[in-house]
Amino acid sequence: MRFSLLCLTLLCSFAVVAEEPSQDRQAELKNLLKHDCGSCHGLTLKGGLGPSLLATDLHNKSAEFLIATIQNGRKDTAMPPWKTFLSIDETRWLVQHLKNSP
Ligand code: HEC
Repeated sequence: MRFSLLCLTLLCSFAVVAEEPSQDRQAELKNLLKHDCGSCHGLTLKGGLGPSLLATDLHNKSAEFLIATIQNGRKDTAMPPWKTFLSIDETRWLVQHLKNSP
């Protein structure tokens, strides 16, 4: 019992220290953001059909909430799910990137 609890703790710390995508993949993700996400959220991500994805507009929304939105989409809205194209780590990186972009 104690052993399996220890494993759980280890797994959790692994999940927190997630892998960053490679430099090449980061460039692809930025491209995706501009061209695919940008088609609805605006080329400069200021908003269009979808809401603004600028850091100033996302700062009060939790990363987990935004990651879930991107992975699963939002039912009954135009926001599609991206989980077939983006892993959780990639989505987490994207959200951090959005939240940290000036
Ligand atoms: C076909 C149009 C469309 C595309 C493409 C699209 N989105 Fe969206 N997105 C939306 C809409 C519409 C909403 C608002 C849904 C609602 O009404 O809650 C949204 C909501 C969101 C939200 C939640 C914002 C908030 O303030 O709660 C995030 C984050 C997001 N999109 C990220 C992305 C990312 C990242 C991509 C590209 C990988 C993307 N979207 C591509 C239409 C789109």
